[in-house]
Amino acid sequence: MKIKIISIICLLMAILIYSCQSDDQITFARYYSIGSVIYQNKCQNCHGKDGQGLSALMPALTDSVYLKANKATLPCIIKYGLKGKLMIINKKPFEGDMPVMDMAPIEIAEVLTYVTNSFGNKMGIITAQQVGDDLKDCK
Ligand code: HEC
Repeated sequence: MKIKIISIICLLMAILIYSCQSDDQITFARYYSIGSVIYQNKCQNCHGKDGQGLSALMPALTDSVYLKANKATLPCIIKYGLKGKLMIINKKPFEGDMPVMDMAPIEIAEVLTYVTNSFGNKMGIITAQQVGDDLKDCK
């Protein structure tokens, strides 16, 4: 009897964990696919189809170390642009101007989820909620 109850509880927990995971996966897939369209429309011209950048003119989006270290400021870079900030991308100094992208937090979250999980990056989902919080701290 006891074993039966325990195994039913285990089964229920397994189903619960499984359904939660697949919910997260669905959200991730939705963010990622919408993000890829936004990327093609608004970012690809400068940063390249594969996030490779353009020599000394446009920085690459392939530097996972930079992206991870600056995760909380990425929404600010997109929303408010970036003018002549010296940064180290793929171990080389880079300086240029990124224009202001007038985008809603959800769009920023989608495009960032795409960028930070493409081009060799693997950082998981960046939610609209997270972007909203990060935008409050832009300097
Ligand atoms: C007109 C060209 C242009 C467009 C369009 C553009 N960027 Fe940028 N982006 C730049 C430049 C130039 C910099 C470097 C700015 C600096 O050095 O201060 C930059 C910097 C960045 C950085 C930080 C540095 C790096 O390489 O990781 C990220 C992240 C980024 N852009 C993402 C995006 C995303 C996402 C979009 C689309 C929503 C986008 N950019 C649209 C030109 C552009």
